[in-house]
Amino acid sequence: MASAEVSNPYLPLLRSSSSAIFLLGAGISTSIGIPDFRSKDGLYASLKLEEYGLNAPEDLFDYEHFCASPAGFFKWSLDSLTLQTTGSKFHRFLSTLKNLHRIYTQNIDGLESSSGVPDSKIVHCHGSLQNSTCQTCNHKCPTPSFTGEVPLCPVPTSPLVVGPRTSSRGKKKQKLTCEGILKPDITFFGEPLQSVVSKTIGKDRLKSDLITVVGTSLKVEPFSKIVNCFEGKKVLVNRDYVGFPGEGRWDCVFLCDSDEVVEEEGTTWREVVKGVFLG
Ligand code: OAD
Repeated sequence: MASAEVSNPYLPLLRSSSSAIFLLGAGISTSIGIPDFRSKDGLYASLKLEEYGLNAPEDLFDYEHFCASPAGFFKWSLDSLTLQTTGSKFHRFLSTLKNLHRIYTQNIDGLESSSGVPDSKIVHCHGSLQNSTCQTCNHKCPTPSFTGEVPLCPVPTSPLVVGPRTSSRGKKKQKLTCEGILKPDITFFGEPLQSVVSKTIGKDRLKSDLITVVGTSLKVEPFSKIVNCFEGKKVLVNRDYVGFPGEGRWDCVFLCDSDEVVEEEGTTWREVVKGVFLG
């Protein structure tokens, strides 16, 4: 016997908000085939460490490891980063919200923007892949296509600044470009968050009446601490229960997939409703 449709308890809550903030993680993109990091079938469980010269999965995004040995990151990027521009049902839903105040996302896939959320409403807490910065001269440019090679800075250097190098034939050769490593502007472990994050939190702190945290394990600081920065009701939408640092507690928890939480009604809501704890 088919179970009856049940209406979605999250949507009325969201609609009652005059200014909604979302804190997002990799879980909002798993339904379109982009793995998250820490689930059983996530990136960290499947990463071939030897192939990319890593001692531990987290080394892939570790700044010290990157500086010492950048080749592994760029090989992995070529093998694994497929640029996808079509977001999930949840991404599309976000772009239709009239009461959306801000999205703070840990994701670097750029899908909030390509799904139609205005850039002014998105804070990329862990940066984005769009641009790169030279680690030697700070030159900024669009991220070159991933080829598997370490991309080097093409900025011409002054002959007075850069010393001569010796060519294979033994003659002295001038280094004509900077040749520093072009690192994509994503925030690696060991790097501070960009200043725009704290500046925007400062502006938004008291503005929101509803903070929805979606698809994240909240394992990574300082992002996990952001939850506590805002006034307003705090709601979790996630496959698994996760807590957030400090004394705070969720006002409401929806243990379900992010795409499910935006459906008006469905047969699975019976299960989901059981997972709601109003505090
Ligand atoms: P994680 O992989 O740590 O957590 C993803 C969470 O989403 C888990 O709790 C899953 O159960 C849940 N999840 C998966 N699919 C879901 C779905 N369809 N609907 C709802 N929930 C779902 O990913 P993040 O928390 O985003 O940082 O990881 C945070 C940071 O760790 C990343 O930004 C990255 C990584 O290291 C850097 O690279 C600096």
